[in-house]
Amino acid sequence: MVIVLLGKNGQLGWELQRSLLPLGEVVALDYPQIDVAQPDTYVSLLREAAPRVIINAAAYTDVERAEAEPERAFAVNGTAPGVLAEQAVGMGAALIHYSTDFVFDGKKTSPYLETDPIGPLNQYGVSKLAGEQAVLQAGKSYLILRTAWLYSLRGHSFITRVLKGARQKQSLRMVTDQVGSPTWARLLAEVTALLLARGGEDAPGWLAERRGVYHLACSGQANRLQWAQEILRLDPHREEQVVEVVLPARSEEFPSPVKRPAYSVLDCSRFNRVFNMSLPDWRLALRLAMDTSTVLAASQSARPG
Ligand SMILES: NC(=O)c1ccc[n+]([C@@H]2O[C@H](COP(=O)([O-])OP(=O)(O)OC[C@H]3O[C@@H](n4cnc5c(N)ncnc54)[C@H](OP(=O)(O)O)[C@@H]3O)[C@@H](O)[C@H]2O)c1
Repeated sequence: MVIVLLGKNGQLGWELQRSLLPLGEVVALDYPQIDVAQPDTYVSLLREAAPRVIINAAAYTDVERAEAEPERAFAVNGTAPGVLAEQAVGMGAALIHYSTDFVFDGKKTSPYLETDPIGPLNQYGVSKLAGEQAVLQAGKSYLILRTAWLYSLRGHSFITRVLKGARQKQSLRMVTDQVGSPTWARLLAEVTALLLARGGEDAPGWLAERRGVYHLACSGQANRLQWAQEILRLDPHREEQVVEVVLPARSEEFPSPVKRPAYSVLDCSRFNRVFNMSLPDWRLALRLAMDTSTVLAASQSARPG
């Protein structure tokens, strides 16, 4: 089976490259080799590869910057997924696309269902919602997997920021008024690969029968303070930490041009019902992610200096 993966260098894309390997030939692409906002940079590559599955892990994910350049965010997150869905239809392929908890306004106090009203609070959320709608409109065989609070131990993420802060400052402040489900990118990638393995050579037909929007995040919930405390507790190099206290804070103490949902926990029971799979509790996932071998690189890059 040939799979085209877009966004191979991102948190999720990097993990997908690894998870998809056993399934067949993976043609992995990213910016600047291609620009998903400019179809002429990848359409001929797609046709040449003739994939059974296209996986779109490319996205404009800088939520703050999206406020300043909404057109670019919209082109990448809103328009490109529709083009990919059309291309997939044209070549009889399936499309797997990822979306976000930021399509919700965060006013609920119990986990969001796929059927709950959407209401993005910022340009990133608006653009991701447009991408969902474009796939729904153009696609035939597709999954839109809405995930949340995605992290990896590569590059910059909440984890690496917390580890770094704990090595530089005696006190840290973390907000308690943002609640979500931290989700390890590796587990999302593994589940994506398992889905494709189930569909086998008929992945496009199998997914067409199950097409739609699904929530897929680790179970349980945490606020940013609880998440940071767990990261610090699981840090395999705690002796390097100089932090003495992590103080609770409110979002308004960190002025930002971006409004974020206060509560964006996703109810993943639809995915669980249809595919008989679910992601573990966020604490267990974090423990796996922070296993000494995987965290080594992150804690090394977190050392001051
Ligand atoms: N991160 C989160 O907390 C979170 C939460 C919920 C949902 N999600 C969704 O989950 C998916 C994966 O997110 P992620 O955290 O893995 O994102 P990421 O780490 O930011 O990776 C996105 C990748 O897409 C690439 N890209 C950006 N613009 C592109 C363009 N015009 N053409 C081609 N490639 C482009 C990026 O390249 P550059 O780095 O060079 O720009 C990067 O390699 C996305 O759909 C995202 O919206 C993320």
